[in-house]
Amino acid sequence: MVTVRPAAENDVPEIFRLLELYAGTGIVLRRSQDDIRFFLGNFVVAEFDGKVCGCGAMRDFGGNLLEVRSLVVDPACQGKGVGRAIVEAMISGLKLRRPEWRLFTLTLQDKFFKRLGFSEVDRHMFPEKIWSDCSKCPKHSCCDEIAMLLESKGKQE
Ligand SMILES: CC(C)(COP(=O)(O)OP(=O)(O)OC[C@H]1O[C@@H](n2cnc3c(N)ncnc32)[C@H](O)[C@@H]1OP(=O)(O)O)[C@@H](O)C(=O)NCCC(=O)NCCS
Repeated sequence: MVTVRPAAENDVPEIFRLLELYAGTGIVLRRSQDDIRFFLGNFVVAEFDGKVCGCGAMRDFGGNLLEVRSLVVDPACQGKGVGRAIVEAMISGLKLRRPEWRLFTLTLQDKFFKRLGFSEVDRHMFPEKIWSDCSKCPKHSCCDEIAMLLESKGKQE
């Protein structure tokens, strides 16, 4: 059974390990343990049978614009609904706290995000501040990521 909870200080090494699995190939940004600790309030972790098996972070850009980032599920636990549980927990939190929100991600996993209700959008619709991390990404000059967006019902209707 999968549970998702806010990340705690003692999850930092495990979050670091999970991100390192995919940071080398540029699928997620490399983050130091200090950086993870500093932004720990943005992170949730998923547990499967009591063991941390995935993580994700939600960054708030202001103006009700937020980003799903640093989303990784341990390869041994993929395909069991863990990634879905992480993103759905983020969405549930947003629905509770905000009347309006726009949640986006830049990803190669467009089919996964489509299953969760996201739609592909033109990446240029986002303000410049979201590109601040691109300078840290090894693929910055040849980015192949797809922008996906999910909006609160208030915005869609
Ligand atoms: C992408 C990732 C987070 C998905 O997590 P997961 O736990 O394996 O996915 P889930 O089991 O929750 O899948 C949820 C749904 O998406 C579908 N799905 C997942 N990955 C998919 C893929 N690559 N292609 C098509 N569908 C996919 C599943 O079939 C499932 O559909 P359903 O619930 O309607 O049956 C995980 O595979 C991962 O960590 N990948 C490597 C790192 C990465 O790419 N991170 C994303 C950075 S933005």
